[in-house]
Amino acid sequence: MRVGILGSGVMAEVHAAGWRTTGAELMGCASANLEQAVRLAQQFNIKVYQNYAELLRDVDIIDICVPTHLHKQMVLQAATAGRHVVCEKPIALSVQDGLEMIEACDRAGVRFFVAMVVRFFPQYRLSRELVARGQIGKLGVMRLKRVSYTPQKPGDNWYLDESRSGGMVVDLMIHDFDYARWLGGEVERVFARLNKATDGPGQYAQAILRFRDGPMALIEGGWAYPPGVFRTALDLSGTEGLIEWSSDEHAPVRSFLLQRPGEAASVGLPISGLSDDPYALELQHAYRCIQTGEPFEVTAQDGLEALRIALAVKESIATGKPVTL
Ligand SMILES: NC(=O)c1ccc[n+]([C@@H]2O[C@H](COP(=O)([O-])OP(=O)(O)OC[C@H]3O[C@@H](n4cnc5c(N)ncnc54)[C@H](O)[C@@H]3O)[C@@H](O)[C@H]2O)c1
Repeated sequence: MRVGILGSGVMAEVHAAGWRTTGAELMGCASANLEQAVRLAQQFNIKVYQNYAELLRDVDIIDICVPTHLHKQMVLQAATAGRHVVCEKPIALSVQDGLEMIEACDRAGVRFFVAMVVRFFPQYRLSRELVARGQIGKLGVMRLKRVSYTPQKPGDNWYLDESRSGGMVVDLMIHDFDYARWLGGEVERVFARLNKATDGPGQYAQAILRFRDGPMALIEGGWAYPPGVFRTALDLSGTEGLIEWSSDEHAPVRSFLLQRPGEAASVGLPISGLSDDPYALELQHAYRCIQTGEPFEVTAQDGLEALRIALAVKESIATGKPVTL
């Protein structure tokens, strides 16, 4: 199938490399930044299209890698043109917009994949599988961390404009809201605090999520670290053991199980493919499902539910009160 990328920035480049691993025919890109689009096109030996409409005419799948506030209009345009859609996260900036996008794709009979990439990180995937298999018993606590530096964009830094990016909670923490929901099920209530009242650089937040079925999650996110730092960590605790992983350690996922007769207390789990590129894996998955008609492992509705949690967290930050979903 033929694929086109909308945008030519950071994620467009990452996705172009990912598409190259899928067997799809990468046709070209269209972007508001022509100079950047030309560079991307030269790097991947693809065509630069004059505009979005022209790109849509030439492809079966469109991959949307533009700032978040533009996702809705671009997805609706693709659905109207009858093209399958891959769209970077967050799905949108409001639940209503996300719903309209899902409905438009359903009505048009096109597939809609929202790129919730953390589900394709081998460490996160393996840890989830271990929990699902009951290896740590009943899941009680999840501690998830994702702290980085403030996104740096020369010129117009749209990330710092909450009306375009949703801010740190929506843009960054959404990954762990999705992951926590993947493991813990539906969220009942959230309570959160931010280090400062306004949006912009240097934000750091902690959110507590209560799940309907019992577990709790403490999720930490920040754009408050020095340039170059990107730390993620998970710590999943259950009645029979603990699974932990941190980007600070170059170690595989470890699980500590309660000691049983004849068993060691600590089990190191070798994990193959830690170096697999999760962005390539997610596009390979999306492509295969679009070709075969198989359901996606992570649905657009999952992307929407993660946004719903992120917006509740923002509301809790704004009001200082817990928010029930
Ligand atoms: N999954 C992840 O890990 C991850 C990481 C970073 C960003 N993202 C998401 O990816 C999306 C893009 O982020 P980015 O960092 O690549 O942004 P970027 O600023 O690097 O690139 C955005 C691109 O969109 C183009 N663009 C802007 N307006 C346009 C328009 N009207 N028509 C056509 N092109 C237009 C720009 O010219 C630029 O090429 C965002 O939604 C962001 O939240 C996801």
